[in-house]
Amino acid sequence: MEILKNKTTLQNYIERQKEMGKKIGFAPTMGALHDGHLSLYKAAKAENDLVISSIFVNPTQFNNVNDLAKYPRTLDFDIKKLEDCGDVDAVYIPQINDIYPEHTESKHFDFDGLEDEMEGKFRPGHFDGVATVVEELFKQVKPDNAYFGEKDFQQLAIIKKLAEKLKLPIHIHGVAIFRNSEGLALSSRNERLTSHQKKEALILHDTLIKVNEWFRIITIPEINKRVVEIFAKAPAMELEYFTIANEETLKETDFFYKDKSYRAFLVVNFGDVRLIDNMHLE
Ligand code: PAF
Repeated sequence: MEILKNKTTLQNYIERQKEMGKKIGFAPTMGALHDGHLSLYKAAKAENDLVISSIFVNPTQFNNVNDLAKYPRTLDFDIKKLEDCGDVDAVYIPQINDIYPEHTESKHFDFDGLEDEMEGKFRPGHFDGVATVVEELFKQVKPDNAYFGEKDFQQLAIIKKLAEKLKLPIHIHGVAIFRNSEGLALSSRNERLTSHQKKEALILHDTLIKVNEWFRIITIPEINKRVVEIFAKAPAMELEYFTIANEETLKETDFFYKDKSYRAFLVVNFGDVRLIDNMHLE
């Protein structure tokens, strides 16, 4: 596996691959790699000649300095994990100047309102930061296909919109949430949970399963009420939000239409760890 430590090395590498006509699949990450990331690489490997990943903890997408400071940084472990998985041909590890040559600032984007829902209300500026780094990485890596996890479903929708608005010749793929055998959605932030807390955190997935059972049987306001009650009985968990939203517009709904798809979104603060999960509703 090639380790590309700056923009110039990356550009030379990409030029060589493009000359050989290679189809490039790309999965950007912020490191602290887990099996969820490996599922992105597997999907990329199946559809491309070459798989590139990147590791860059992007400061502009953190609206909380504490969260940025505490974000796990495990570069040696990550490189080993990438090498062992065997699906990744090159990893790009840019320096801050490779992404932000002047100021470490986000650009401002209009995603037709997708950015104002859910995470947009709780993490102002977050999606501007994500879109800024993803646009820059796309420009540098020039992939044919790019892969993002459905765990950050709103991020995935926004990146699809980014590619559409900027008319980028990149096909954006969503990859299903990767869960451990008990149902916990894998996340780099889980690193900060003890094994006991990881068991407690299963309440997120268990709640989403119940929501899926209740969906179309009881009303959405009644479901919302029941979810609030579940978390009221779990004092270590602070429910930040629970929303059932239209999968296309991401707008919260109190009422469903038969021909539209819906998804339940759940965000919980567990101590100082913010856990997020979601589920498509059948
Ligand atoms: O999902 C992530 O890990 C990040 O938001 C991304 C897409 C790599 C941008 O920094």
